[in-house]
Amino acid sequence: MTPQHIELVKATVPVLRENGVALTSYFYKRMLNNNPDLKNVFNLDHQSTGRQPRALAAAVLAYAEHIENPSVLAKAIEHITTKHVSLDIKPEQYSIVGENLLHSISEVLDVPMESDLIAAWKAAYLQLADILIGVEKSKYEALAAENGGWAGWRAFVIRQVETTEAGQRFTIAAQDGQAVVAAKAGQYISVKVKVPGHDIEQPQQYKFDADQSGSQFVFEVKPEENHTEYSVSNILLNHYKAGDLVQVSAPL
Ligand code: HEM
Repeated sequence: MTPQHIELVKATVPVLRENGVALTSYFYKRMLNNNPDLKNVFNLDHQSTGRQPRALAAAVLAYAEHIENPSVLAKAIEHITTKHVSLDIKPEQYSIVGENLLHSISEVLDVPMESDLIAAWKAAYLQLADILIGVEKSKYEALAAENGGWAGWRAFVIRQVETTEAGQRFTIAAQDGQAVVAAKAGQYISVKVKVPGHDIEQPQQYKFDADQSGSQFVFEVKPEENHTEYSVSNILLNHYKAGDLVQVSAPL
């Protein structure tokens, strides 16, 4: 990035932050309309409850603020890349997010896509995307190299569903019958289900209450009130039973 790029980006962060809700809603709407495949990637229940969707755009703004010293954001980068790897986010998806984010910035700031300002934001986004893609690549490689490990999604069969005080406990094993990597209490997996009545899959993270070792994972699912038909927990509780398949990413 040139010094002019840095100045332009930093000068517009406060305006974008003030318009954070407009930026984020415009961004997601545009991106999901133009790339309906991403409806399988982003949690639509989170989008509609407004719980999470601000995080991505907010992280880009936070990064832009510290553009001269991105090491300030090391902790955030670790957190984001861990979440992304759990969701099997791919390098090529960064250009889709980037394009939509830049269009949204152009819309919110009311400047043309061809302006110097958008060129500056593009340079900033590409710099951040490069950092994230690099960290995610090494995380995928580390996961795949572990004994019983894998990168991306792997099919698991539900072996058992038990009722608990708060919900249901699911025991799952890899469909291929091979070993699965051990995990510690507090680590999480993403579980992806088919949404009944829609041609869509949805992921959600589940944390382990206890260490996991051997050939299966055990996690508890609790019902979610006031959620949409995309709530993965409610789908698991109401529609999934022993013998059914789910897609699972490796513990992180
Ligand atoms: C520079 C680019 C990006 C930044 C700064 C970024 C930042 C973030 C942040 C801060 C979160 C929230 C983490 C949490 O849950 O605590 C997140 C989650 C997520 N990101 Fe990214 N992200 C970027 C690119 C991408 C790309 C390219 C994709 C794939 C299309 C993606 C997909 C997701 C998904 C699916 C989630 C989970 C959100 C949910 O479903 O609730 N992100 N990202």
